[in-house]
Amino acid sequence: MNIKECLEWGYDKLKNFDNYRNICIYILAEILNKDNVYIKVHYLDEVEEENFKRFIQSIQSFLNGKPIQYINNKAYFMGLEFYVDENVLIPRCDTEILVEEVINIIKKNNIVKVLDLCTGSGAIAISLKKYMKDIVVTASDISNNALSVAKKNAKKIGVDIKFIESDLFNNINEKFDLIVSNPPYIKKDVIPELDIQVRNEPIIALDGGEDGLKFYKTIIKDSKKFLNKNGFLCFEIGFDQKKDVTDILMQNGYINVYSKKDYGNNDRIIVCNYNGG
Ligand SMILES: C[S@@+](CC[C@H](N)C(=O)[O-])C[C@H]1O[C@@H](n2cnc3c(N)ncnc32)[C@H](O)[C@@H]1O
Repeated sequence: MNIKECLEWGYDKLKNFDNYRNICIYILAEILNKDNVYIKVHYLDEVEEENFKRFIQSIQSFLNGKPIQYINNKAYFMGLEFYVDENVLIPRCDTEILVEEVINIIKKNNIVKVLDLCTGSGAIAISLKKYMKDIVVTASDISNNALSVAKKNAKKIGVDIKFIESDLFNNINEKFDLIVSNPPYIKKDVIPELDIQVRNEPIIALDGGEDGLKFYKTIIKDSKKFLNKNGFLCFEIGFDQKKDVTDILMQNGYINVYSKKDYGNNDRIIVCNYNGG
């Protein structure tokens, strides 16, 4: 069996999906440890039996709803390649808006200590440290398995980050100039309606409680004890959560609250200051 025949087998299986050709090429390229262009150019190369079997398994996993990032154990975020598996949320390009804004804030203010709460794959913490070398970054998550992935990514990308296993602030014992978080924020009853690929991501990374605001309420209240004076609190939010999260921030005495939209024109991040601390 050659590359062309192998791909044609995959095309036939995935023909009802958008972009199915690229998906097959991407999966096969990963199995053969080549890039996509190599696959397109060398389509008469032989594919070993063992690799064809792996290709069949991967195509079957995709048909069963496994996201391609989990199949290939790779996701791209802020121009960096992250290892991902079923223990972590796949980093989204919308979250890059949050990282870009935090980088702007760091450039304009005297920010040294940063905490990424609910770090998952470490995407936010690691890209901040990669691009802002002078900051000191701590990253925490309740999931030990997620932290293992984040540690692996920090090593792969070559950044030094302090990781803490913690249920929100329970094991955090210091103050920060900036706290950033993309917490779980999907309403519990919406989760069964999500696309199967999203439902294959960890429920613990999605479930924001009955109203989707459970984590914002706790983080906003508790951050006051963990922020230095005039510290920043920066969140990713769901497209319809701007008003609710803003209200909670105002009720808790935060100031200078503003939001930004993502590339789809949805409200996506909220930033504010706390002048206590
Ligand atoms: C939406 S994911 C965000 C992952 C990553 N920061 C990103 O933006 O791609 C939320 C993360 O919160 C973690 N989490 C859930 N409950 C938590 C809790 N009580 N304390 C700390 N982390 C929690 C999950 O394990 C998951 O990794």
